[in-house]
Amino acid sequence: MNAPVKTEDAFHQLIHENHMWGLWEIASQMTPHPRPQAIPYQWKWSLLEKVVRQSATAVPVGDERRAMQLFNPGLNGQWATTNTLIAAVQVLLPGEIARAHRHTPSAIRFIMQGNGAYTAVEGEKVLMHEGDFVLTANWQWHDHGNETNETVVWMDGLDVPLTKALDCIFFEMHKELKAEHAKPVNGSKALYGHANLAPTWVKERPRFSPLMIYSFDQTMEALHALRDRDGSPYEGIALEYTHPQTGGPVMPTMSCRIQLLRRGEKLKARRVTGSSVFHVVQGQGRTLIDGNAFDWGKGDIIALPSWALHAHENTGSGDAILFSISDRPVIETLGFYREATS
Ligand SMILES: [Fe+2]
Repeated sequence: MNAPVKTEDAFHQLIHENHMWGLWEIASQMTPHPRPQAIPYQWKWSLLEKVVRQSATAVPVGDERRAMQLFNPGLNGQWATTNTLIAAVQVLLPGEIARAHRHTPSAIRFIMQGNGAYTAVEGEKVLMHEGDFVLTANWQWHDHGNETNETVVWMDGLDVPLTKALDCIFFEMHKELKAEHAKPVNGSKALYGHANLAPTWVKERPRFSPLMIYSFDQTMEALHALRDRDGSPYEGIALEYTHPQTGGPVMPTMSCRIQLLRRGEKLKARRVTGSSVFHVVQGQGRTLIDGNAFDWGKGDIIALPSWALHAHENTGSGDAILFSISDRPVIETLGFYREATS
């Protein structure tokens, strides 16, 4: 935020001392277009991998999760990767359990490494494998556990900064380490995970997707079925994970996408309102953001602020796949969505 320009005469002193400012002093904050404080920023996997490895011995899982929060360097130490989203890299060692809890910020996970650990949501275990996309909606009890022999790493994405800006943060620790897991394992997948076949006896229509896991196999099948299409000139073959009952975003606050950039594909530049965080699932490429090149590879995470002009390019020898989260549903619902190509 720009500091107001102080004019010190008796009148201005009077209003400043009493917590008032003239509009003429702050008019420059009504900018002709968004000027985010967050900056485009990249966390390379080479760094994240080192942090993940060291975190295993440096910190216990404890009551809090072993999740390294990615702070945007432009946001002055705020708990935020962009102005609305926080991304983190979470590590769970064999045998560990992250204590059950719930919070009003909603969470998504994208599994980066390891297979077979679980997130239990409202008593239902969701078994997670590499490339799976998992949901934990607003105020649902959840715990994470790793009953396998390998370390599991995932990217968390939450709407924490948005929830905080709205002063709606609530958090509660469960009295038990593990909430009771009474429901069928991966039950939401059995109920809602089959395209165009919906259970007739279910009447609830939650605002968040009742499907808690979107498997990588199904995601890849969908992408490859479309690989010969033109797709979007700005996003390539891009698919949104959708709410199975409404076709809309998986949550009211976050939209999640997966996009395929074929070998040699160079997408056109565009800017949109709203911020995103990208995670490289596969391949190599380059994203030009406001004139700066970010060369990326598998495991990297990139913050993209609102209204930044960006263009992705696949520079590798095979397919490139990007997963991303954004605040688009909020932007669209509030009537703020805009895009431009220059
Ligand atoms: Fe949580």
